[in-house]
Amino acid sequence: MSKHKVIFPQNLIIEAETGATLKELMNREGIEFDFPCGGRGKCGKCKVRISTGAGEPLDEEKRVLTAKEIAEGIRLACLTRVKGDMRVEFLSDKKIGHQILLSGLDRTVAIDPHINKKYLEVDKATVRDMRTDWQRIKDRLAAQGDEYRNAKIRLPVLRAIPGLMNNTGAKMTAVFYNYNNKVRGLENGDTSGRLLGIAFDIGTTTIVGYLVDLYTGKELSVVSTLNPQTQYGADVISRITYASQNPRGLDDLHRAVTGALNSLIGEATKSAGVSRNDIYAITAVGNTCMHHLFVGINPQSVALAPYVPVVSDALQGDPSDFNLEINPAGKVFVLPNIAGFVGADTAAVLLATDFDKSEDIRLVVDIGTNGEIALGNKDRILACSTAAGPAFEGAQITCGMRGATGAIDHVTFGGNLEYSVIGNVEPIGICGSALLDTVAGLVENGLIDERGRFMEPEEVTHPVGKKLKDRLIRYNEKPAFLISGSFDDTGSRPVLVTQKDIRELQLAKGAMATGIKILMKNYGLQAEDIKEVLLAGAFGNYLDPHSACAIGLIPAELEGRIKMIGNAAGAGAKLALLSAAEYRRAEQAARKVEFVELGSDPDFTSVFAESMLFPAQENGSKS
Ligand code: FES
Repeated sequence: MSKHKVIFPQNLIIEAETGATLKELMNREGIEFDFPCGGRGKCGKCKVRISTGAGEPLDEEKRVLTAKEIAEGIRLACLTRVKGDMRVEFLSDKKIGHQILLSGLDRTVAIDPHINKKYLEVDKATVRDMRTDWQRIKDRLAAQGDEYRNAKIRLPVLRAIPGLMNNTGAKMTAVFYNYNNKVRGLENGDTSGRLLGIAFDIGTTTIVGYLVDLYTGKELSVVSTLNPQTQYGADVISRITYASQNPRGLDDLHRAVTGALNSLIGEATKSAGVSRNDIYAITAVGNTCMHHLFVGINPQSVALAPYVPVVSDALQGDPSDFNLEINPAGKVFVLPNIAGFVGADTAAVLLATDFDKSEDIRLVVDIGTNGEIALGNKDRILACSTAAGPAFEGAQITCGMRGATGAIDHVTFGGNLEYSVIGNVEPIGICGSALLDTVAGLVENGLIDERGRFMEPEEVTHPVGKKLKDRLIRYNEKPAFLISGSFDDTGSRPVLVTQKDIRELQLAKGAMATGIKILMKNYGLQAEDIKEVLLAGAFGNYLDPHSACAIGLIPAELEGRIKMIGNAAGAGAKLALLSAAEYRRAEQAARKVEFVELGSDPDFTSVFAESMLFPAQENGSKS
């Protein structure tokens, strides 16, 4: 089969065989690129410009690309096949980093790691002392404290003992797993000064890793990457479908996530100037689907009624069980799931927020592709999940993008429209927080009605809305609102919000608001009973609480009680890494939760229909 030269940005030259798709090449070369619909040619989001070698567009491409785009050599990377030499350009600067929330909650914890190390000096047997080598090691260990009595040893470690002994004895460090009194490793010399761990928050979209010193709790480095499973679909349902319908699907998804974790371990240890061999413990959290794929379990049952996971217990295993490259004497700890769509990430959020200890009633909302909501206090906790979809993360939105350089991240409505752009550059799109601000502004200033329909310019009566009504435009013959840029060739790229985008956001916010209302109803609570609303997740840290209330995502009465808590799931994973007691507590907290299946609530349909509406305004927004 003939080979061709495909040149990617930064002059990356890839040899490709005839017929390979650009998506396959990018996956093979580890080029990070989003394929939100899993490469089915449906979403139109994987656009690239082919400046040399663009062939005729396919019919599927003609459906999602404009004639102008096609003339400019724009094609879909998931469908374009190599037929000759090509040059591929990205439409945005792919070198830019994603703005991801890396700080969690600050919470004190007594350090009590799962793994400990003890330096031992062991004498050799003599005719007067004929104890076995292992017995001498055990006796030395027992002298270190009661918790080291009755130690057991793994067979491979036992085999290593002769190699550690010399003529007089041995100086060695025992790696000890406190929970089952097991010596998991014996290392030559004194290595007891180095004991590190890494906590992972495996999100559907983003993975974050926190490298910490297990003696001091000090954070040595924080690393993050897009979840490479995105190439198989943006949301959990497409990934479950991929895992179930392809013979190697589960393996592909498992290897994608563990490969990313291994890369992050390499990056974190390099930046901290340590070795991956110094890592002895890993904790991992994620929603139930991410959990199953990480563990290597087919998550099919999560997507089928009655949506029960294969396992919800906290799990432990050896690094090799998860294909993770750290010290082989280390252990991996996975936090417990709660239900089909309420996963170990929610258990971690409960841990980080001390939800199970709180006297006050609190509401915690973890906003992501799947929204997870918990309501309650130490006596009773209800939780549910909502398929909010990726709108909050900017996906499936006409000009949507993640919170990266070039994204408009906040919009303010006044006499003029003002906005801020990540990186202070020319805007190229809009991220979730700005979408919320825009729709909130459209609602409050009477530019859309409570059903989300754009007003005609002459229908606008609100004084601020009237000043902005020129921004009500037609795009592809449908109404839209222009935030920045223009359509003439001289201006910068237009960034706008369409009627379809508003529908997407309505669905997402309607789903979340429905979850909140049904939990409140089942608990028998009114808004005034809720002392605090905690917004968790990367997106939950950037959004404007006023916008969240203005569109009806959060009940308006709670606006003054909203607190952003950042990546609480990551903070919970760190707590469970630093403290075995906290890890066990996560299991107790998870078992305490009563899962509410929203779809089977008798009021679901009516609450959802009502939650899709925007709060009515006084100035001319009624339809
Ligand atoms: S169209 Fe290519 S990934 Fe959706």
